[in-house]
Parts: sequence; C-alpha cells; structure tokens
Amino acid sequence: MLFGFDLMAGLAESVRSIACQIDGFEEDFLPEPRPAEARFGDFQANGVLAHAKRHGRNPRELATLLAERLQENEELNEAVEIEVAGPGFLNFRFKPLFLQRYLALLSDIDKLREGARQGVNPLKVVVDFSSPNTAKQMHVGHIRSTIIGDVLARMLEFQGHKVTRDNHVGDWGTQFGILILAIQRSGTDLDSLGEAPLEALENLYREGNRLIQEDPDLRKIAQAELVKLQEGDPGNLEVWEKINKISLAAFEEVYELLGVRFDETLGESFYSDKVDKIYEELQQTGISEESDGAMVVFHEGHPRFAKQPFIVRKSDGASNYATTDLATLKHRVEVFQAKEVIYVTDGRQRDHFEQLFLTAEKWFAASQRPLPLLKHIWFGTILGEDGKAIKTRSGDPVKLLDLLKEAIRRARVIVSEKNPELPAEEADRIARVTGLASVRYADLSQNRTSDYLFEWDKLLALEGNTAPYLLYAVARIHGIFRKIGLAPGEGEESATPVETDYEKGLARRLLFFAPALSQTIRELKPHYLCSYLYDLAGDFASFYNQDKVAVEEPAIRSRRLILCARTLTVLETGLGLLGIKTLAKM
Ligand code: ARG
Repeated sequence: MLFGFDLMAGLAESVRSIACQIDGFEEDFLPEPRPAEARFGDFQANGVLAHAKRHGRNPRELATLLAERLQENEELNEAVEIEVAGPGFLNFRFKPLFLQRYLALLSDIDKLREGARQGVNPLKVVVDFSSPNTAKQMHVGHIRSTIIGDVLARMLEFQGHKVTRDNHVGDWGTQFGILILAIQRSGTDLDSLGEAPLEALENLYREGNRLIQEDPDLRKIAQAELVKLQEGDPGNLEVWEKINKISLAAFEEVYELLGVRFDETLGESFYSDKVDKIYEELQQTGISEESDGAMVVFHEGHPRFAKQPFIVRKSDGASNYATTDLATLKHRVEVFQAKEVIYVTDGRQRDHFEQLFLTAEKWFAASQRPLPLLKHIWFGTILGEDGKAIKTRSGDPVKLLDLLKEAIRRARVIVSEKNPELPAEEADRIARVTGLASVRYADLSQNRTSDYLFEWDKLLALEGNTAPYLLYAVARIHGIFRKIGLAPGEGEESATPVETDYEKGLARRLLFFAPALSQTIRELKPHYLCSYLYDLAGDFASFYNQDKVAVEEPAIRSRRLILCARTLTVLETGLGLLGIKTLAKM
C-alpha cells in the first residue's frame, strides 16, 4: 500500500524524495510532519519554513513549488489533497477512497503487528525493570517501574524486537547482615513464618535495626555477618537463600495480579563473583584511579562528575551498586548480545545512570567493543491526595499488593451500584479487570517524567481519560455487534467510502494510530498511546451518537460496521499493549 502502515512517516518520505529532485531544495530538507487540526486536513508538514530560512529563500514560494510537484505525481494525487497554507505550511487530506483502502490494514491484530514492524530493524533489547530489593515487600514505589517496564517490553516485542525482560532484584545488600542478626537473636525458624512470611521478615528487619541502633557492638556483629555471607559462609548462605525465596514468592503474587512476567531474574548476587574482572578491566584500560583507598572513575569536563567520581570499589574493598551494574552490563552484552539496554527506575537514580553510561562508554571504547544503546527511562513520584509522596495513614509506604486489592474492592462496589442484578461471579470478574486496569492506566496515561496525584475517584471514573471509560467503549462496540447478530469483521461487503462528517472524523482518527504508536515507542512514553486511545474512543462516541449503524441501506450499514470493527481492533490492540485486558460486556 502506498505510504505503508505509518501514513505520516510514509507521506513524509514521499514528500522528501520528490523535493530532493526540485531545484531550490537541498539535501537537508526535512518535511517535519505532524497530525493536523481537523479543519486543515489530516497531516501538516512544516519543514519548508525552516528550510527556506536556512537557505535564504521565500518559504511560501518554495511551498507552492513543492505542492505543484507533489500534485503532478499521479499516485500521490490520487491519494491525497494538498494545499499550501499560511507562511508555507503544507496540508494533506486523504481522499475517502484511499481512507477506505487504508482501513483494511487495521482489520485484525496480526495486521496491526505486521504494520508496526514495517521498516523496523529488529534488535536484541534487554528491559531491566521492576527490580525490587528482597527481604521487603513491594511498595507503591515499585508500581511505576513494573508497569512502565512491562508495557515498554510489550511494545518493543510488538515492533518485532527480541526482548529479554530482566528483573534485576537487589538481593545482595546490607539488609542481610541486619536480618541475620535479628534471626539469630530471636531464634526464628525461617521455615515456619506463618501466613505472611515476607511481613514477618520485615518485622525482623525492623527489630534488627532497632538492635544495632541501641548497641554499637551488635552493629559490628551485623556487619560481620554480612561479610561472612559475602565470603560464602554456608550457614548464612542458607538463611539468605530462604529469605530470597520467600521474597520472590511474594513478588510473584503481585506480578501475577498485574499480568507481568520476566525472562530472567538475575539479581545483584548473580554478579558477585564477576566484579573482580571488572576491577581488572577498568585498571588495565586506565579508566579508573585510586582516591582515598577507593577505586573511582572521574569524568573530565562534566559539570559535576569531573569532581564527584563514580565509585566502583569502596575503600573497605567492597563492591557496590556501580560495580554490579558494570558487571551486569558486561553480562548482557556477552551473554544476551544486547544491542540496546533499557533501565526503568525512579528519577532519583539519574545521576547513577549518567555516570554508569559515561563510564561504560570509556570502558568499551578502550577495549574496542561496540557499546549497546543505553537508555535510562526514569519516572516521577506518585503523590498522595495531600500532594506529598504517597504514604499510609501511619506514614509507612503503601504496600503494592494492598493497593491492587483495594482497587479491585472499590471497582466491585461501583459494579454492584451500576448493575445490581449481575451475578456475583460476573461482577467479581468485571471488578478485577476494571480495578487493575484503572491503576495501570492511571500510571501510564501520565507523562512518565512528571509526578502524579493518585486519586481513587478519578482513576475509577467512567468519564475522562480513564481505563473504565476505554473499557466501556470496547464493551459498547461488542454490544453493537451482539445486537445486530454479527461478529466484528462480518457484514462489510457492500461498503462505500466514508461520507458523513462523523464517519470521516472517525476514519481520520484511525489513521493516527500508527503515528501514535511510533511516537510512543520512539520516546518510550506510553502516555502518547493512552491519549490517542482516549481520543479514538471520543470520536467513536460522537460517531455512534450521530450515525445509526443498523440501517437498512447495505452500503451505509457496511461502511459503518467497518468503522466499528476497526475501532474495536485498534482499541483492543492498544489496551493489550498497555497490559490491559478488555471485556465484551460491562
Ligand atoms: N534494586 C534497585 C532499587 O530498588 C533498582 C535496580 C535497577 N536496575 C539496575 N540495573 N540498577 O532501587
């Protein structure tokens, strides 16, 4: 099909290649396309302005020249109307017959996937996400990494990349010395911790902390236990293993609820015997130096890291977060053959990753190896209704499992209110899907780099940019087909091209799916896809309120059925990419 799946990108490419053959356009011309306001057309290209300015030409003249040449191209002319506007913009509006043909590309999820893979060079990508520390329950702070990472992995896979989902759990930290101390002192049996073993471990950890604060001698003992563990003491290793097993089982419960899976769970401990090699390589390549007994890497010319080095080995000889991350990177390159590594964490780790990436650049350059593309995908904080980082009433972090259960509970109340006759089992199922979707969507629909306010009423509302609103749109379209007695995709034979304003508006919105998905993956920001789906559901609602689908006239009925079916496919595919299950009835 002319222009391919992503019409905006395909159109821009056509424009660029035709422009290149025109006197007055230089090699550096970029059309700079973007979706247009409806009254101007479907897409707009603004690039002539900057190009004319750079080369001292009159933009309006250049744009007119280009528009003429584009119109002379028969294929292009058949598909799209072209207009020069303002100081030198180009507006493009696709013709109804072309729209009609394009809609065939959206007929099912396989077609969408095929479209999304066009022109993509598939890479091996590691997505490092969730990555909680063991011996503690996951709290609300982990939800963003878990959900955003999961969604990025889903999208990259959809685009054809070979993704390894790696949960880089913190299972080798100082928490273990303190815990081992508390376990010894209390004579706890790790095999009988009761119903909620991870909570019991958290309590022990708290107790341990209290002990070492009161008694400096005990602090020394805790430190000694940690050293014993790290040196491979069998007794401590056994305790450590049990603690991790309990932790991972509890994490799994959260992942299960959220529908998140991993290919690897290689925690920090996995790299503990691989750090010596890192020290050696950094020393040999001359990248590191000694500073007050520690091994560090300075980054000259950097405003902060020229003076504030990346510490890769502490002065007491111990490895740290930095060393582990360097060893992890080496493993991902050598074993997973990663061409791209995406780290999804809180924005407070920006300095760490900046230093890690700078160090890795030097290290790989010095050993003449290609460095994969490294991306730190960071996010802001979830705020409670008081505008501060979300906490429980007692001031503790909100447990993630509790939050998810609360979402399901609240959704259940709403479902019963709206639809009291629903059998309990059905209501439970709807509440589970809606509650979990609401929490997910509330997170994903925000620009990830901003903080956002967590408000139950808003995220569960049936109106606005929320999961319930989108789930409802999906259920409504299923309902339309049920009522007519057809399956989506059936009854499309007699369709004529879109005609009414609402039909055109909806068809036009469907064109924007591919560019919205491309932008989302290019910037690794799920909120772009969310906004698109929200707009699509809105355009569908306007269309459906205005244009009756179940009409007698076969041509009209068929083309409206097509619009319903394509909207359904795009909504369901989009929500699926966001890790959201949909419902045929609500
Ligand atoms: N465990 C760390 C934390 O809870 C996150 C790890 C992120 N991944 C990494 N490779 N550093 O903050």
